Amino acid sequence: MARRSALKRLIGRSQLRRRVRELAAQIAHDYRGQQPVLVGTLKGSFVFLADLARLVDLPVEIDFIGAASYGQARETSGQVRVYHEPRCELQGRHVILVEDIVDTGLTLEEVRRFLEARGPASLRVCALLMKERAREAGITVDYLGFVVPNDFLVGYGLDCAERYRNLPDVYVLDGEG
Ligand code: PRP
Repeated sequence: MARRSALKRLIGRSQLRRRVRELAAQIAHDYRGQQPVLVGTLKGSFVFLADLARLVDLPVEIDFIGAASYGQARETSGQVRVYHEPRCELQGRHVILVEDIVDTGLTLEEVRRFLEARGPASLRVCALLMKERAREAGITVDYLGFVVPNDFLVGYGLDCAERYRNLPDVYVLDGEG
């Protein structure tokens, strides 16, 4: 019999706020005097990007790249599709790729390759969450919010078949969705 899905809070909004503020301060320090472009990966990063951009004390520009691999499923399809390209000129710019979560690392790898091909002056990655398995696989990013367990997470931009993105906290989703 199918179980009802249950949400268990993993990271609360005040903890998120504190950590995003720290990441923003670190970025503002590292890019002082520069005007980096924050490129958020759609759709999951939209909440993190909105909070980060408002806390970073720099004249940043904002753009998005649309990449998806999960579709309606909880397992990655293994194929990352870029369906929306950034509109800013990225050549010669300092680009910070903003990701909500690194799980298998496939999206990050594909998006990084895509952005590198635009010839930025520099490219760094800021991810709010990284699964333990990604860290164990040796995947690294320049700015990281939290290492999280290998569970299916929702909220703060993360979805399950498009649900839960607007929850203000990060939850573990158990059971059937
Ligand atoms: C999710 C998430 C990350 C990516 C991470 O995106 O937002 O971008 O998966 O997983 P990976 O490290 O295994 O590649 P998804 O493909 O679900 O699209 P969405 O952001 O539009 O939900």
